[in-house]
Amino acid sequence: MRGHDRESTSGVPFPGRPLPREQWTRTRVPLGAKGARFDWVAAFGREAPRVLDLGCGNGRYLVASALVRRDLDHLGVELVPPAVKLGSLRAGQRGLTNCRLAWGDASEFVLERCPTASVAEVHLYHPQPYYEADKVVRRQLTPAILAAIHRVLVPGGLFVFQTDNPAYAAYARAVVPSLFAWTERADPWPDAPAGRTLREITARKLGLAIVRAEACRLDLAPDEVARRVATLPEPVFDANRPAFREGGARRKRSRRGGRRRGGGPGGPPRDAGRRAGPPKGP
Ligand SMILES: C[S@@+](CC[C@H](N)C(=O)[O-])C[C@H]1O[C@@H](n2cnc3c(N)ncnc32)[C@H](O)[C@@H]1O
Repeated sequence: MRGHDRESTSGVPFPGRPLPREQWTRTRVPLGAKGARFDWVAAFGREAPRVLDLGCGNGRYLVASALVRRDLDHLGVELVPPAVKLGSLRAGQRGLTNCRLAWGDASEFVLERCPTASVAEVHLYHPQPYYEADKVVRRQLTPAILAAIHRVLVPGGLFVFQTDNPAYAAYARAVVPSLFAWTERADPWPDAPAGRTLREITARKLGLAIVRAEACRLDLAPDEVARRVATLPEPVFDANRPAFREGGARRKRSRRGGRRRGGGPGGPPRDAGRRAGPPKGP
């Protein structure tokens, strides 16, 4: 059972089971040279519909989806090397051949490298709110990125967005419908009742309201997309650090007698935004 426990988050097991070592697969993929178009067929060795997870964290959703949708190729792009390492290890231990994780900037990937009309689904779960004013520019949903998501999706493609940050949810509700048909669902996803991602599981444990939306790509010509996007606001909202964090931070500070370093519930992981270099390992 110890192995099983290591594979769980808040008591929610990571999807699937590790296979014997000889059945493990290699699931790390490089994004390639900056500015060069990403070659999906070379990365997966086949032509198939594709799922892209922007900021996939430890890959919980990506792996779960790849396990049950073997006919779709799944790529997660994540900035934090340990998260890429853990996610790719778990995907590999499950013998997946339709799941890859890449270290890198998902915003740059979707803006610059991902080919037009190459993806069936784009997923963005709990993007970092970035509370500090100087980090707001790192937000993963902007008018330009929304237009890029529209560009990379195939006609009728799906954009899945989820957050537990009310200000982020309000921004998404304001901008996404200009390019997508936005539908919210109040209940948890039926495929993952406890939560699709690590952050969803944590947020639900904290009792936070979660906004889940499926947004279907509107069929718009590129100049109409550009016209609409030009009217959209930038994500300069106040992400409103939740009060429970302040209380929690004060409690931690007084217990430790020192400064809190981040990485607590609801906020950026300690190493969020770190651009140290590609993760080492298999
Ligand atoms: C709050 S976590 C959510 C992770 C995961 N999607 C989930 O729901 O559990 C936000 C994640 O986005 C990643 N991230 C933020 N900006 C990114 C970017 N530009 N490119 C790739 N990953 C990014 C962070 O490193 C972090 O893992």
